[in-house]
Amino acid sequence: MQTITVNASTPYPVHIGPGLLERAGELIAGVTGSRTCAVITDTTVEKLYAAAVCRSLQEAGFRVCLHAFPAGEQSKNLGTFGGMLEFLAENKLTRSDFVVALGGGVTGDMAGFAAAAYQRGIDYIQMPTTFLAASDSSVGGKTAIDLAAGKNLAGAFHQPKMVICDTDTFRTLPPDAFADGMAETLKHGLIADRDFYRFLMTGDVRGSMDEVVRRNVEIKAAVVGEDEREHGKRKLLNFGHTLGHAIEKCSGYTVAHGYAVATGMVLASRAAERLGYSPAGMLEAVRAACRRFDLPTECPYTAPELYAAATGDKKRDGGSIDVVVLKEVGRAETVRLDLEGLRRFTEAAL
Ligand code: NAD
Ligand code: GLY
Repeated sequence: MQTITVNASTPYPVHIGPGLLERAGELIAGVTGSRTCAVITDTTVEKLYAAAVCRSLQEAGFRVCLHAFPAGEQSKNLGTFGGMLEFLAENKLTRSDFVVALGGGVTGDMAGFAAAAYQRGIDYIQMPTTFLAASDSSVGGKTAIDLAAGKNLAGAFHQPKMVICDTDTFRTLPPDAFADGMAETLKHGLIADRDFYRFLMTGDVRGSMDEVVRRNVEIKAAVVGEDEREHGKRKLLNFGHTLGHAIEKCSGYTVAHGYAVATGMVLASRAAERLGYSPAGMLEAVRAACRRFDLPTECPYTAPELYAAATGDKKRDGGSIDVVVLKEVGRAETVRLDLEGLRRFTEAAL
């Protein structure tokens, strides 16, 4: 097991390695005085892993209740979120009890938000089971649900007490979940670590999953440690996300997050090169990386469709929006655009 500390306002460990589901109870017992928890998961992960996690928690002396919601991004809404809060109340969780978010990024984002809102905030543990959640969403404390107007429009910053990533769980993922997680992984290399990008382009990525997750978490932890609430540097983690979120929304959330972010990075890089924000070569660096992992590089939507969806994005600040552009592989910057600038950026992206 490898452990990385996230130096957020309250530091917490991220444990990564095989065989950790069975050790959940023992690991969690070290960071809580409570003896009651709610495991929140989706219906797919419930069948695969809930029994092992609940057993481990019970053997460590916890009273456990289990709540599962229908798997998928379409569940990431107010109705599912409300169901989680009612479940916590019905099971009489108190302010000193905690939630275990067992699953992918949808589960982590929603269960984390439920923990942030229930009784004005209780503790939670992230147990990511997708490559994407392990490499990105389980770390950093962003929690959210989608609203009709757009992606992640209601949420809270609420850091977990601990992250437990059992990399054995990746074995049951469907084939496209690897590419889906690779998009955020490539993003980390492209914005922050040229050597990591080089490894991803040439190395045995599938054979080094524990190391790849570890490097993702190190990169994200460094950014979050510096800028937990996204006033500055953390905005760089949104590379590809303004147009990526727009693609997700235009598709009715049928395009998976990583796939949308991959296309979003390609589009942002094309616009940035055409408008002079990025040097020549950045578009090709992004496109080649997406191709290597069978990620989509073409967008099926028009500029007006993307612009309409993107202006609902939460990263908009009054009349302006920050987009992320590459200065070189391994280094990115934000560019502040007004709405007319965003319209031009979106047109230049296609
Ligand atoms: P997901 O949670 O929907 O998981 C994808 C699918 O895989 C689901 O059907 C799930 O049931 C299934 N699954 C999960 N683990 C499995 C396993 N081990 N074996 C078999 N099937 C398994 O989606 P995701 O791709 O993990 O996460 C995407 C979400 O994460 C999006 O909502 C996105 O907005 C969010 N996100 C959040 C952050 C953040 O910082 N909070 C960062 C990136 C993405
Ligand atoms: N995934 C972007 C962030 O956590 O800030």
